[in-house]
Amino acid sequence: MEFQKFSESYSSKVSAIIAPVFEDFTPADTLNFTRESSALANAKKSGFSGKIGETFDIFDNKLGKRIILIGLGKKGAIDDEVLRRSYSSAFNSVKSTPKGVVQVILPNGSTEETKEVIFSISLAAYDFDKYRSEKNKAKVDKILITTKSKEMAIREAIALADAVNFTRDIANLPPSVGTPSFFEKTARKLEGVTVKSFIREDFVKLGMGGLEGVSRAAKEAAKLLILEYGPRDKKPTLIVGKGITFDSGGISIKPSEGMDEMKFDKCGASAVIGTMKLISELGIKKHVIGMTPLTENLPGGNAYKPGDILTHYNGVTSEVLSTDAEGRLVLADALSYGTKNFKPSEVIDLATLTGACVVALGNNYAGLMGNNESLKNRIKKASENSWEKVWELPIDSDFQDQIKSKVADIKNTGGREGGAETAGAFLSRFVGDTPWVHLDIAGTAWTQKNNSHRSYLPAGATGYGVRLLYEFLKLE
Ligand code: BES
Ligand code: MN
Ligand code: ZN
Repeated sequence: MEFQKFSESYSSKVSAIIAPVFEDFTPADTLNFTRESSALANAKKSGFSGKIGETFDIFDNKLGKRIILIGLGKKGAIDDEVLRRSYSSAFNSVKSTPKGVVQVILPNGSTEETKEVIFSISLAAYDFDKYRSEKNKAKVDKILITTKSKEMAIREAIALADAVNFTRDIANLPPSVGTPSFFEKTARKLEGVTVKSFIREDFVKLGMGGLEGVSRAAKEAAKLLILEYGPRDKKPTLIVGKGITFDSGGISIKPSEGMDEMKFDKCGASAVIGTMKLISELGIKKHVIGMTPLTENLPGGNAYKPGDILTHYNGVTSEVLSTDAEGRLVLADALSYGTKNFKPSEVIDLATLTGACVVALGNNYAGLMGNNESLKNRIKKASENSWEKVWELPIDSDFQDQIKSKVADIKNTGGREGGAETAGAFLSRFVGDTPWVHLDIAGTAWTQKNNSHRSYLPAGATGYGVRLLYEFLKLE
């Protein structure tokens, strides 16, 4: 699908027009076609009032086109999320328009509007159809967008959406395909990004007991990837993504129902790879290191067991109470290795870490935890105008107390109460004083069905994290 800047009022080549209407029925400046079309009058007659969330979909015989009017509420500043929802929802209804050119009219045609609309339409157009013989029949091949925006902003929005969809593509892969080796191959194809890969022998030698333990019964070779981009003379930002390519729970095996969804336990690592691709493509002037501990978590005769004690890279020992609390064990080694060896100015990790976070915050907020107010605030700021929302959870000393072990320094579960927070408290033991934020994306990384409220989120991996990290790296 291609976007093309377009300045005429309307084109005869298009099969459908998506156009905004405000509550007072003033059409946007660019809405010249309404003089010839009866769509607006018809819409009024049938009770359409231009409120946010309303749409009116009609075939205009005179123009020979489908017209979709979207309500944008009161005239004035329009919320970015309203734009994303309205335009992606309208796009979803014309997705199967047989002749594939759609014209999209914006309320003002500003750069900001243009970015959000291109971004959300591209996300809505995503379909993981790689393994399906029946593809969506008709596809929109061109979108004419009426805008005053500079080409740069259009390029940025397209790159942004491409990176999110690239992340979705990796995260949606079946667990026997989206393996640690696949991640390595994918990372090595990224231009402008250097890749180092530790295999089991390396990380065992380095003393990464968490990654060693979790990967012990893996059939697929485990890896720790280190991706690097940007000017090396600047202190790096470190981003770390949980890459459990399949989480069966190990010996503490999960119930079989819904276990297929644990192919999504690699969403954090996928977002890290997607972000590296994006910042390299757009030439962001930042030094960024991405780390992805990658392994499957399987049971087996040689698997690590409840009761085992593992020694992590920084010397901290952890008692394994559940082999299903594996994410924190592999992240522990990545975080302590990364903070010690790269001396980053800040660390952000993304992980589908706990079911407890999903219970606490649902599917629209990632849990945000950390050890530094200023960094937490910068992440909150970066999240403000994106669809990727965050909500802070506490990890103070009460939670640290909950993970004390009698036989080791800490234990890998703190019981059912405050499960997201005890996981965060566990991770905090591996970053020292480095400013650090942990994002528990267990609830936001994928959706079971098409999100009807947020039409830009089709079923499957959402790509959560890429836009947030991008906006964060662009701050300052
Ligand atoms: N990958 C899971 C977390 C998860 C579960 C994410 C369901 C999304 C949906 C993680 O490895 C896990 O199994 N966590 C356990 C921790 C517990 C054993 C302390 C959990 O949340 O049940
Ligand atoms: Mn698990
Ligand atoms: Zn897991």
